[in-house]
Amino acid sequence: MNKIQAIRGMNDLLSSEATKFNYILNTIKKILEDHGFNPIHLPVLEKTELFARSIGNHTDVVEKEMYTFLDRNEESLSLRPEGTAGCVRAAIEHGMLYNQTQKLWFAGPMFRYERPQKGRYRQFYQLDVEVFGLSGPDIDAELIAMTKIFWDKLGLHNHIKLELNSIGEAEERAAYRNALVAYLEKYKNDLDEDSQRRLSTNPLRILDSKAEQTQKILQSAPKLNDYLGTETKAHFQGLKTRLDSIDINYTINPHLVRGLDYYNRTVFEWTSDQLGAQATFCAGGRYDSLVQHLGGDACPAIGFALGIERLILLLDELKAFPELEHHPDVYLITVGEAANLKSFKLLNELRQQNIKTSTSYGEASFKNQFKKADKSGAKLALIIGEDELKNNCISIKHLRKESEQVTISQDKILAQINTLLEEER
Ligand code: HAM
Repeated sequence: MNKIQAIRGMNDLLSSEATKFNYILNTIKKILEDHGFNPIHLPVLEKTELFARSIGNHTDVVEKEMYTFLDRNEESLSLRPEGTAGCVRAAIEHGMLYNQTQKLWFAGPMFRYERPQKGRYRQFYQLDVEVFGLSGPDIDAELIAMTKIFWDKLGLHNHIKLELNSIGEAEERAAYRNALVAYLEKYKNDLDEDSQRRLSTNPLRILDSKAEQTQKILQSAPKLNDYLGTETKAHFQGLKTRLDSIDINYTINPHLVRGLDYYNRTVFEWTSDQLGAQATFCAGGRYDSLVQHLGGDACPAIGFALGIERLILLLDELKAFPELEHHPDVYLITVGEAANLKSFKLLNELRQQNIKTSTSYGEASFKNQFKKADKSGAKLALIIGEDELKNNCISIKHLRKESEQVTISQDKILAQINTLLEEER
């Protein structure tokens, strides 16, 4: 029989990766709680129309990257390529936005049919943060400051960069789009193929084209900043002043436009020169019109998502992971079935006291169990052999320091175990 393999671009995260994954998630989760964010869990499948309407029909994500299929009821469904659309749908559906603010977070798999490479997968995990009901630049600044706390706590101090831009309001962008298209039309034949196509569908995305010739043409193109109104500019200034006040460095990137259509005003990306072509590990921005666009009452909103696999790559690259392996405190060694039976009760009692325990389930020889105990990194070996069984006692051997084996009465072990472990520290 041939073996069935995982789908291309969909990775198994084996234990060592999954441990890193959980470390990142737990570190960030604590910071989110400290900032007053509440968890939410959302479906992985949504109606295709939700993504078409929010992300935009002419984006790469909707045009060519979604896993879309008809269900048994002939309804078009898609695996979520990102989390914002579903979160807005849920917030509207459950009346969470009327006269209230919401600070929400969730993490889970997203799906995009992209060409897999390092840092780019077809199933990947995002941690998503969304805020509803707040329109001022203070929340924009709070979110960015919070991401900086994430990186600090994860030990990412160098090789990371914050890029910022304001892409204005829809009308401001429309005026700019006209000017940009009028300018680029003159050079149409010199633009790269993607940009030529985007000229009629999504011209702003031409700004972040990687093609050298296109970038050269863009140097003399009209600038989006010149089309922003007073309020938009004041909002952006409010954000920058706050970031300056807490010494967060940023680079204004006038070509940062993001690949999803729902954004307005603030957009930002955290990038690293250690990640190769997929340099962005966290990105987001404001999307004040999306709630209304999906059928809710107007409600300002802002959010971001970070790619957990990209963070794992980055922490690996910068050797920022602490020692994550779990070592037991105590390793139980038994000889014979009767001792093994007795050890089962003792293990359970120790675990109820939150003592980290391990055992080899009595299967191996005494010598072998000792080897395993040593390899496990446990501090103490507790031994129940024939003599111990007969005399109702337990032998204790310190595994990390030179000392004599001691024997204590079995009914004293629970009371003494913490003191014994303390001696190890
Ligand atoms: P995005 O820029 O499309 O934004 O994705 C956010 C992050 O997800 C990226 O910066 C990257 O770290 C990770 N990511 C994206 N695609 C892949 C992939 N194929 N493989 C691995 N990682 C990937 C959004 O999705 C927005 N919903 C963010 C947002 C939330 N904006 C407002 N609220």
